[in-house]
This record gives sequence, C-alpha cells and structure tokens, in this order.
Amino acid sequence: MRVLHPGYLSVIHSITVLEFPSMGQSQSLWQTLSSPFSRYRRKRQEKRRFRGSSREGVFQWIYDTNKWGSEDSRSGKGSDMPHSELLRASLPDVLTQLSVHSILDLPCGDMNWISTLDLDRYEYIGADIVPTIIEENREKFPSLQFEILDVCESVLPAADLLMSRDLLVHLCFRDIELALENIFASSFTYFACTTFPEITTNKEKLTGNHRMLNMSLAPFNFGEPHMLVADGARQNSSGKAKKLGVWQVSTLKALYT
Ligand SMILES: C[S@@+](CC[C@H](N)C(=O)[O-])C[C@H]1O[C@@H](n2cnc3c(N)ncnc32)[C@H](O)[C@@H]1O
Repeated sequence: MRVLHPGYLSVIHSITVLEFPSMGQSQSLWQTLSSPFSRYRRKRQEKRRFRGSSREGVFQWIYDTNKWGSEDSRSGKGSDMPHSELLRASLPDVLTQLSVHSILDLPCGDMNWISTLDLDRYEYIGADIVPTIIEENREKFPSLQFEILDVCESVLPAADLLMSRDLLVHLCFRDIELALENIFASSFTYFACTTFPEITTNKEKLTGNHRMLNMSLAPFNFGEPHMLVADGARQNSSGKAKKLGVWQVSTLKALYT
C-alpha cells in the first residue's frame, strides 16, 4: 500500500483550512466547494416535499422549521419590523380613506407587525391555513378573533376588506386561480394583496416557494389598482418596490366574468 508523504498531507491540510476573508469567516475549501451541492440537494428535497404535501402540510412544515429564517417572525422577513415599516405607518389612514370597518386578514401569520396597530377599532378576523399559528394567536391575543381558513376552498366570512399580504406570491398559479374564484364568490368590498409593479413577467412556482408577482399583468390582469400603498422597508435593498395593491372587488369580478 502506498502511504502519502507527510509533505502532501500538510499541503492538503493547509488547503482545507484555507481562509476566505471576503466571506467574513474561516471556511475550509471543502466546505466552500460542497455548499452549492448541499444547497442544491436541499432545494431538490424541498421540491419533493412541496410536490407531495397538501397546502396545509407545506405551510405547517415551513412554520415548524422556521424555513423563512427570520429571527423576529416565523412568517418571514417581510413580517419583521423593518420590512413592515412603511405599511405600519400608512395602513390606519388607508383604512380610514376606504371607510373600512371590518377586516378579514387572510393570512394573518404570527401577527408580528399587525398586532402593533390598534385592531380593536375594527371588526378584525385573523385567519391562516396553519392550525398551530391560529392556536398560538388565540393564546397571545385573546381579545381578537382567529379562524383556520384555506383561502383556496374555505367559506370566507364577509368583510369590507380582505387583506392578503404576502400570500399569492407563495402559491402556484392553479392555487391562485382557486383562491381568486373563492374570493370573488365571497362578500368583500375591497381586496388588498401584495404586488410588485416593476415585475414584467409573472413566473410559475410550486406552492411554498416565493417569487414577486405583478397582479396587473397576465395571467391575473387586475389592471390598475384603486390604491397602491408602499410596503416593505424604508431602505429597500431588493431593488423592486413592494406594494399593497387595493382593488374594488366589483371591478375584479367584472373582469373575471
Ligand atoms: C409570508 S406569511 C404572511 C403573513 C402576514 N400576511 C404578514 O404580512 O405577516 C404567509 C402566510 O400565508 C399562510 N398561507 C399559505 N397558504 C395559505 C392558504 N391557502 N390559506 C390561508 N393561509 C395560507 C402561511 O401559513 C403563512 O402564515
């Protein structure tokens, strides 16, 4: 059997503990080379999981594993304080302008940012597909009402406003179609959802993944919103401005029938 010369061993050792100062921490060459592969493997496993699970299963797993990785909120970075700053500042005035008294907040997620607003002024119902989220919200916010609802198929309680912030961006086109059919069969005056007006093409994704959507373009073709409200962080690093678009449900229903 051939034995490696100690000199070679020392070279191999120094390569594997090579420092990459630009990465801000010491990392071996092996870790550097293998991380794209482990990321690829993780993505493939995730794809299989999303394909093989129900909508509830997908989002329960995302919640249980804190997949969206925010320290502040299990509902993701978009739900932390810096990334909700603009909307928190303007939402109360928007609701006044629209004469909104009742709100179905679907999905409400973990209520991280919206619970800082004075919700007692409205008839507010928070709802989400993940039962654990709703159980925890009921404990944390006993004065508010919460329901387990799937926007794609549950009977939705009537309200002046259905607010669906950061929801459709996580659903595949087929689930979005089901959601819109269900929303338009329900009783709302306004529908508010996340939209990115600078996006020029809407791409398909598996339910559970994320991409930016422009709701004014195909295949949704909502047209210009009744109101476009700035959302996201004051310091926007992603480059594409995130908005909460507000549409009159009667206008959307006319487009869809
Ligand atoms: C990114 S979070 C946004 C939560 C909240 N709107 C906010 O701004 O913090 C997305 C939420 O959508 C929920 N969700 C996903 N699909 C759903 C569906 N079909 N019906 C109801 N909720 C759903 C998830 O469980 C998750 O809590």
